[in-house]
Formats: sequence, C-alpha cells, structure tokens
Amino acid sequence: MFQRFRRTRLNSHLRSLVRETNVTVNDFIYPLFVRSGEGIKTEVASMPGVYQMSIDEVLKECDEIKKLGLYSIILFGIPDVKDSIGSDSLCEHGIIAKAIRAVKEAHPDMFVVTDLCFCEYTDHGHCGIIDEKLETVNNDATLEISAKQAIVHAKAGADMIAPSGMMDGIISTLRDALDSAGYENLPIMSYSTKFASGYYGPFRDVAESTPSFGDRASYQMDPANRREAVAESISDELQGADILMVKPALAYLDIVREIKDNTSLPMAVYNVSGEYAMLKMAGANNLIDYERVVMETMVSFKRAGADIIISYHAKEVAKMLQKQS
Ligand code: PBG
Ligand code: ZN
Repeated sequence: MFQRFRRTRLNSHLRSLVRETNVTVNDFIYPLFVRSGEGIKTEVASMPGVYQMSIDEVLKECDEIKKLGLYSIILFGIPDVKDSIGSDSLCEHGIIAKAIRAVKEAHPDMFVVTDLCFCEYTDHGHCGIIDEKLETVNNDATLEISAKQAIVHAKAGADMIAPSGMMDGIISTLRDALDSAGYENLPIMSYSTKFASGYYGPFRDVAESTPSFGDRASYQMDPANRREAVAESISDELQGADILMVKPALAYLDIVREIKDNTSLPMAVYNVSGEYAMLKMAGANNLIDYERVVMETMVSFKRAGADIIISYHAKEVAKMLQKQS
C-alpha cells in the first residue's frame, strides 16, 4: 500500500482546493522613495522599475496602485540637505513630513507607513547620531531623536510607524512618546530582526544612504545568529510592537518560521532591494521565467509564516493576480 499523492494534483480545480498557501494583493506594502521638486521620476539603475519621485509623482503613483488594489505604501524620504543628526527628518517641513501630509490629503484611503531611520538624512549615512569614541551610532542619543521623528510622522498623518535603525529599546521609547502625545492608537511595525546584509546594496543607491565610513555590523544583526534573531523579535514584542519583521526575506526564511512559532504578533518580511535586483536581472537576461519565479518567491514568504510582504514587486504581483482572476 502506498499513497497516491497525484490524485489531488491531476485537476487544476482540485489543486486550488488543496492549496495550503495563497498570495493576495492584501498582503503587500509597496515602498516609495520621495524627494523634493516637481515632475521628477528618476529610475534607479540597479533597480529597474523603482524610482525616486517628487511628491506630485508619488500622488499619481498612488492613483495607479489603487487601481491595482494596492492601498498600503511605505515611504522613504530623500532630503535636499543632510547633516550630522538628520535634521530634515525632525522638521515638520522636511521631505518626509511634507510627503505624508500630501499623500494623506490627496488619498485619505491610502494606508501610509513611514520608515523611521536617520541613514537617508545624515551626512555620514549611519542610522543615528555618531558616538566619536565608539566610532558607531550612539544608541541612547538616537533613541531621543527617534522619538522626535516619530512625532513628526504622527503629526503629519502617518498610519503606521516602522523603525528600521535597530536601536535597542526603540519600541518602548516610541510607544511611550506616541502615547504621551495622544497617539496611543498609532501602530508600530518594528524592523525587529534586521540583519547586516549585502542585499541592501541597490537600496542605498536609491535612498542615497551608503555609510561614509565603516558598516552597520555594530547595530544590525550578524546573519549567522539564529537564537539572537528570535530574541530580537521577542524583545520588541515585549516592548509593545504591533507587527514584527524579518529583513532581508529570502535568505532568512528559517528565521521567519522560527519567529512566527515563538511570538504571537503578525509578521512582515522585507523582500529587499538586492533580492529584487537579482530577479530583475535574471529575468531581463531570459535566464528565468520572471513572473513565475516572482510568484514562487512570494508564496515562499507566506509559507514561511509571513502575513505581510514589503516588496518592490508589489505592483507587478498585483497585475499578475488580476490577470489570473
Ligand atoms: C534604512 C533602511 C534600509 C532598508 C530599509 N530601511 C537600508 C539599510 O539598513 O541599509 C533596506 C531596504 C532594501 O534593501 O530594500 N535603515
Ligand atoms: Zn537606517
């Protein structure tokens, strides 16, 4: 006696009935990069299909993605002027505050997530204030200005705040700051388990955030550490995060599953720039069936335990899903 597994595979309707994992347009958050100016839409060489956009172009983009059923975006700001503490991100007239206000005004039905960090705004490209002695980011000084940045986002109308700088204690700091300012219902999606990864290369081109010295290994995680990866996310759950995240996604699906099984919060994965660029380049050179491999990759995230997928592929996936239905 043996089991005929094929019986449930021989008919496409039956295959859909027994499918364990489904990807839908509701799973996605689409990243957008905003800078000052008008009519600006500059493609990034390392990420075909990804643009730096001025606010007016972001508003047009929102129209387009809503037609595809995509309502959630995560915004990254690229300021005109950078300095040692990332002042543009702390100012109500800075690029990110302006962008949030404009999007929420033109598209109140959009769900606007904001990346909270300093690397795009500092002249040294690190994720916070530099401690000269340590030659890396000063954790606690960065917590203070992170709370300020969170309030700037909240006042501008952000729907969810996503701190990405890997500072210890960031979630309790932001939760306290938001609660005392009357934003107790504003959720925090923590980049809770974020690795020091080579896969962020193309992002740093588009966000213009490559560190001018050193790297991020003293604050982002060592890719080799599984137990620490789980501890990082559990710590953020205990501090009051609403959603956890693993980043990058593809090389860390074991970590996604392990965190999913050891926490009770919704989980996001960030399908990062380098992962996107690899598939784009392979597709452009006809080395893979691009759309098929993209969908297979998205299914792998959900199967590993992700509830939310932050991806530059979101628009393409939404189009593919529309075609299928
Ligand atoms: C900023 C930030 C980064 C990404 C998201 N937020 C870059 C970094 O940590 O260097 C990476 C996104 C991507 O590669 O697509 N802290
Ligand atoms: Zn950063």
